[in-house]
Amino acid sequence: MIAQLKEEELFACILRNIDIGISVIDENGLFVYYNETMEKIEGIKAEEVIGKHVLEIHTNLNESSSTLLNCLRTGKRINNRIKVQVNKHGEVIYLVTTNVPIIKEDKIIGAIEYVKNENSFGELYDYLDKKHKNHKKEVKEIKDKDIIKGYTFEDFLTIEKELIILINKIKDMALYDYNVFISGETGTGKEIIAQSIHNRSQRKNKPFIAQNCAAIPENLLESIFFGTDKGSFTGAVDKMGLFEQAKGGTLLLDELNSLPIYLQAKLLRVLQEGYIRRIGGTEDILVDVRVIATINEKPELLIKGNRLREDLFYRLGPIYINIPPLRERKADIDYLTKVFIKRESKSIKVKEPILSKKVKQYFRDYSWVGNVRELKNVVKYIILNSACSEVVDIDYLPYYMKNNLIDKKIHDLNLEDLDYQDKVIEFEKVIINDALKTTKGNVSEASKLLGIKRQTLQYKIKKWQIE
Ligand SMILES: Nc1ncnc2c1ncn2[C@@H]1O[C@H](COP(=O)(O)OP(=O)(O)OP(=O)(O)O)[C@@H](O)[C@H]1O
Ligand SMILES: [Mg+2]
Repeated sequence: MIAQLKEEELFACILRNIDIGISVIDENGLFVYYNETMEKIEGIKAEEVIGKHVLEIHTNLNESSSTLLNCLRTGKRINNRIKVQVNKHGEVIYLVTTNVPIIKEDKIIGAIEYVKNENSFGELYDYLDKKHKNHKKEVKEIKDKDIIKGYTFEDFLTIEKELIILINKIKDMALYDYNVFISGETGTGKEIIAQSIHNRSQRKNKPFIAQNCAAIPENLLESIFFGTDKGSFTGAVDKMGLFEQAKGGTLLLDELNSLPIYLQAKLLRVLQEGYIRRIGGTEDILVDVRVIATINEKPELLIKGNRLREDLFYRLGPIYINIPPLRERKADIDYLTKVFIKRESKSIKVKEPILSKKVKQYFRDYSWVGNVRELKNVVKYIILNSACSEVVDIDYLPYYMKNNLIDKKIHDLNLEDLDYQDKVIEFEKVIINDALKTTKGNVSEASKLLGIKRQTLQYKIKKWQIE
């Protein structure tokens, strides 16, 4: 099949399937190619990028800090630079990028960037030569800090009054052997709370077993939960299930709502009766675990949608904790930002950056769908990307956040009473303002970004008195 493809089709096929992000700019620094892997890595669609200038997309860069533009200017290749970015899920990603000039008849007519996502650190180490040793250390320190085992309540930071009261209540209740049900959006600290409860309980010297229910294939669910006895089916071995593994300790069932309803019923029965039986086994085994279950949606909604059994919810929820999302905890946004800036700067030994007023305000208004995890990662990103600038302005935020900023500005426009023409003008003003900001007020650069004539832009700026 593949041998029959024309060369052009073959290359298109390769570029689409290869797990290397590839982008190409022309002699003016405008993107002309952006493959699917690049879309995934940077969280931006090709159609948003094609035809735009590098600095319009990466507004935290400038002519001298952009490797792609440097490569275009000098015609020299730039090998294996490490970049740290935050993707649109708020996760920090580590990239290794290389820039290669495109030269035709002795003229530089463009430049290519290819990027490998190196989140598997083993591969990253192989990639790095000795020169990068220092950076390697930084990257490792950051990674290691996230694998803290054994959280205690001191790790859950908050200055919100109601949340402090709630945490204090949970601290007291942790001492009693009740099951616990925790709900909260992703990244709100459910794992911290679960581990803290275990570490404060009488079970603290016994196992803490965490299982993400969404991660088990359906046909293995029962055997993973309850274990198997030799002979129960061909190839079966004597194997402990989660309840036996956690004996005497705590079993954390993450994303409980991913369990199929029939298994939720079985789980309920186990909790009521206090015994399990391995698949294929004949012996009743006493269950001696404290179960902590988590969900990342509202329990009412899950029960209504038949994705969570109500009786199971009540059985598990003598202690029910709901951690509010970060966007509803304005004081925590300021406080946690400060704490994370201090911590991260210290851990990689750089000066603490100062956030501009605008950035602080934007943080307060921002939706933080990834909650505290996202905030933590955005702070890391800022620290690693703003090394030379003292005051961090909106430009230094990850691209996906800034994108949101234009959306937000447009969203915030009060257009209700305007007619069609005026609505369009209001939209235009936001877009022009944004372009001017990107180019730091340079009108001809901004007109290039916008793809309109300089004179047209000048006219609009004057007419609408845009500063
Ligand atoms: N209140 C907090 N104080 C300090 N760090 C926090 C807080 N809440 C969350 N974090 C940090 O955010 C990250 C995510 O927390 P955690 O894993 O506990 O969230 P989660 O609710 O279990 O998320 P998920 O639903 O995605 O599993 C961790 O790095 C954790 O240390
Ligand atoms: Mg979790």
